[in-house]
Amino acid sequence: MAAKHPLDPLDAVEMSFAVAAVHAQGGLDASAWFETVALDEPEKAALRAYTPGSPPNRRAFVACYEPSSNRTFDGAVDLASGKLVHWRHVPGAQARIVMDEFVEGGRIAIADPVFRAACAKRGIDPDKVLVEPWAAGNFGIEGEAGERLAYGHCWLPNDSGDNPYGRPIANLHPVIDLRRRRVLRVDDFGAVPLPPDSGNIVLRDGLRTDIKPFEITQPDGPSFTVEGQHVRWQKWDLRVGFNGREGLHFYEIGYEDQGRVRPIMHRASLAEMVVPYGDPTGGNFRRNAFDAGEYGVGALVDALALGCDCLGHIHYFDAWSHDWHGSPKLAKNAICMHEEDYGILWKFSNTYTDPVRSTVARSRRLVISSFSTIGNYVYGFFWYFYQDGTIGVEIKATGIPFPTGTPSGEPGPWGEPMAEGIVGHVHQHVFSLRFDMSVDGDRNAIREVNFAGLPKGPGNPQGNAIVTTVTPLKTEQSAQRVMDLASARYWAVVNPNSLNRFGKPVGYKLVPGANALPYLTPDAPVAKRAGFMFKHFWVTRYDRAELYPAGWYPNQHAGGDGLPAYTASDRLLENENVVVWYTLNYHHLSRPEDWPVQPTVYASMHWMPEGFFDRNPALDVPPSKPAHCCD
Ligand code: NI
Repeated sequence: MAAKHPLDPLDAVEMSFAVAAVHAQGGLDASAWFETVALDEPEKAALRAYTPGSPPNRRAFVACYEPSSNRTFDGAVDLASGKLVHWRHVPGAQARIVMDEFVEGGRIAIADPVFRAACAKRGIDPDKVLVEPWAAGNFGIEGEAGERLAYGHCWLPNDSGDNPYGRPIANLHPVIDLRRRRVLRVDDFGAVPLPPDSGNIVLRDGLRTDIKPFEITQPDGPSFTVEGQHVRWQKWDLRVGFNGREGLHFYEIGYEDQGRVRPIMHRASLAEMVVPYGDPTGGNFRRNAFDAGEYGVGALVDALALGCDCLGHIHYFDAWSHDWHGSPKLAKNAICMHEEDYGILWKFSNTYTDPVRSTVARSRRLVISSFSTIGNYVYGFFWYFYQDGTIGVEIKATGIPFPTGTPSGEPGPWGEPMAEGIVGHVHQHVFSLRFDMSVDGDRNAIREVNFAGLPKGPGNPQGNAIVTTVTPLKTEQSAQRVMDLASARYWAVVNPNSLNRFGKPVGYKLVPGANALPYLTPDAPVAKRAGFMFKHFWVTRYDRAELYPAGWYPNQHAGGDGLPAYTASDRLLENENVVVWYTLNYHHLSRPEDWPVQPTVYASMHWMPEGFFDRNPALDVPPSKPAHCCD
């Protein structure tokens, strides 16, 4: 086996080694379980000093929860010596809810006599009920403070086994004490009839018969090369990372130009996401899942061995996670990498020549993606690398929109009917993407660009003038920004120490796509825990410990952690190692078409080179041969 790189994800052997070290040295009792066993990423200085091929100093980051004392611990294990190099109790922190605990939480609820009575009152067999213990948040409700809780949502799964969420049991919420393994109380806001239809997903007759085969062939194989986690494709050079919390992420993204790989980003990840729902009634205000920080999008990654989602020649990366005992768990084929044809890269037809001279190059993109099934929703995280230096991030949302039971024909003011007796409440999917920038080096700066028209007058007699204003955002507080359609606002990361052929700092611009803002009041409990969602754009000065926009332990946190805390000291950003955080909000009012399974919706953003290259960097892509595209 090839020597590990410092940024490779932990493998099964390393995980087990780290778990054994914590068992031996962590001072935890038998009740303790493992929230996280993942790579403890090296300091940048150590990384830069690393010689390829030499044995790296690798460490595991480990977080544990000890139910007997209601304490969360974390620290690092040196994977060479097996020593626990630091270990601490994190005051007030609640570890993420892990899958084993999630399953256990459902069992606890179903065994509870009060819950069983509430089911019986509704004429439902409690043993057939699906109870999902969702992270409880922090709402200041009496009796909840300081306890490790989950808030249950209930469904009666359909009989055909394809939709466990087919029949929501509205208004019934067991509050589960995960630590003592008992039900704290049952919130019962009154019975609502079950929907008449069971929400089957698969139609067993009437399938379309007019879809002809569509095959992608790559007779000479793919154009990428892979060595471990290191990928080279066209001019791109990058490393693929994976952990239980963020899932798929990337390191050392660079683009080869004039014989050398020029760095663009040191690390890129989906750092957090939160899905606040807009129904204030009953127990529905408690629905606001932080799917990365409260559950882990990597821990819930789909093994694509169960059914591939990609077409073409595919390279898969397996991914290791673990159960709550710390036993390694393999997700086979968790990350899919392939190439896609992406239409026209560039084209020009000179109509002044005879015959017309036409040149066209087809675009191809490298796609690296993974899917996570997080309860009812299914998210695809797609990262695109284009031949012209563009990087795209696209999140695909499918699965089953959270259904709530409602008296038939009465969806109420907070949602739309999706089916008879089923309402889908208005909600938002808010993603936070973190980009540790390294545009031609680690010393970068931030520019905001706005456009405005000038009033008519001398110098602008026809009223057509457009003024471009470039504003340096020099501090963390001044770099908290929202989009502005009127000024076509965007942001760029530039390197004042690296100039292009026009003498301007090389840069990459963040190109926002469709987006939205939250409707929560700023003092709403979920708003305090997810302060990041009130700005589309944040910048921090690099700090190795600042990885998550809602903090390291958002589960039941009182709020204020993450980006609001990271930026409180208002550090300078000019000619520093800057980290850009982009908030991408997909606003979703459910539709009848979203039931029983939602056609994929897309939310995306891009990074484009802006003066990073001296000219179109894709002029060396061979033009398409006419024979290829004309029949
Ligand atoms: Ni949605």
